[in-house]
Amino acid sequence: MQTRILQINEDSLNESRKIIMNGGAVAFPTETVYGLGANAYDNTAVENIFKIKGRPCDNPLIVHVHNEYDILSLVSYVPEYAKLLAKAYLPGPLTMVYKSNGKVSPAVSCGLDTLAIRVPSHKEAQKFLKYIDLPIAAPSANVSKHVSPVTAEHVFSDLDGRIEIILDGGKCEGGIESTVVDCTSDIPLILRSGLITREMIARVVGDCGEYSVKEGEKVRSPGMKYKHYSPLCRTMLFDYNEKKRAEEKYAECILEGVNAYILCDDATAKSIKAEKVLNLGKTETEIASNLYFKLREGENIAELIIAIAPEKQDGVMAGVMNRLTKACKN
Ligand code: TXA
Ligand code: MG
Repeated sequence: MQTRILQINEDSLNESRKIIMNGGAVAFPTETVYGLGANAYDNTAVENIFKIKGRPCDNPLIVHVHNEYDILSLVSYVPEYAKLLAKAYLPGPLTMVYKSNGKVSPAVSCGLDTLAIRVPSHKEAQKFLKYIDLPIAAPSANVSKHVSPVTAEHVFSDLDGRIEIILDGGKCEGGIESTVVDCTSDIPLILRSGLITREMIARVVGDCGEYSVKEGEKVRSPGMKYKHYSPLCRTMLFDYNEKKRAEEKYAECILEGVNAYILCDDATAKSIKAEKVLNLGKTETEIASNLYFKLREGENIAELIIAIAPEKQDGVMAGVMNRLTKACKN
C-alpha cells in the first residue's frame, strides 16, 4: 500500500470519508498529537487499528467526535460535574471516560463497560470529524510504544505502507496527549495527565483525584502499564537536582566517542556545559509542545539521549514528567 500525505481540502476529506466508510483508517491532526481514526461502529475497522499499530488488545481507544455531536447517543450517564468540565474545556485536550451504552464496537474499549470520548479543538480535526459525522476511534498514529507523532512526517515514518492517507495539519501545538479523566465516580479522577491540569479541573468542579495503580488491583486505564513514548536510541533520565551528574555523564560520553545529546529545558541548557543539546524551550506549554518533537529529532541524530527533568513538576509539567519517565524507562 502506498501512503500519501495530503493537505486537508474537499478532495482529501472526501477520499478520507470513503476509506473510513469502507472500514479503513486515516491519520489526522489534532491539537495534541496525530490520531489514526476508524469508524467506531465497525468492529473489523477498530480491530484493524490495533493490528496497524501493533497495539496490545487490552489497551482501549478514545472515540473522537465533533463539537455538535450528541454524546448522549454513546453513553448511558453524564454526571453534573462532567457537564461543567465539558462547558469549561471542550472542545480541547480533555478526554472524558463515561459508562458506555454499548452502541460502538466492543473492540473500542477492549470489552470494558466504559467509553472514552474526546472533542478535539483543532480546526481541521473538527472539519474531518464533521465531514464524516461518525464517532471515530483513534489512538495516537504511531507504532505502539514509539514516541507519539506531532507532524505528518512522524506518522509517515511509522506507518508508511500500512495506511493510505495522512491528512497534514502541520505541527501539533499541544505536543502531548489529552488529559484522560474518569467520570464514572463521585469526583473526576485523572487517569492520564496532560494540558488540562488537575488544578484546572479542581477549579471548575471543586475536587479532582489522581489515579494510581494499587498493588494487586486491576488497572483502570490499561495504557498506564505499558512502556511508552520511547525513542529508538538509548535514553537516561536524571532528576533536576542530579543535573551535575548528567553533565558529567555527557562529558564522559563525548570523551568515549558516544554521540550523546542532553534533552532539557532552556534554563537548564543555559546552566550546563554541553554542546549537543535538544532544547525543549522556556515555558510549560513550550516544553510540552516540543517534547515528542525533540525526542524524535534526538533518535535520528543521537546514540544516547541524556534527559534532565524540569525543576517544576506540577501543572502541565506533571504530564511532561509522566511521558518523559516512560520514554526513558529501560
Ligand atoms: O490526545 C489524545 O488523546 C490522542 C489524540 C489522537 O486524540 N489520542 C491518544 O490515544 O493518546 P491513545 O490510544 O494513544 O491513548 C488512549 C488512552 C490510553 O491511556 C487508554 O488506556 C485510555 O486512553 N483509555 C481509553 N479508553 C479508556 C477507558 N474506557 N477507560 C480508561 N482509559 C481509557
Ligand atoms: Mg498512544
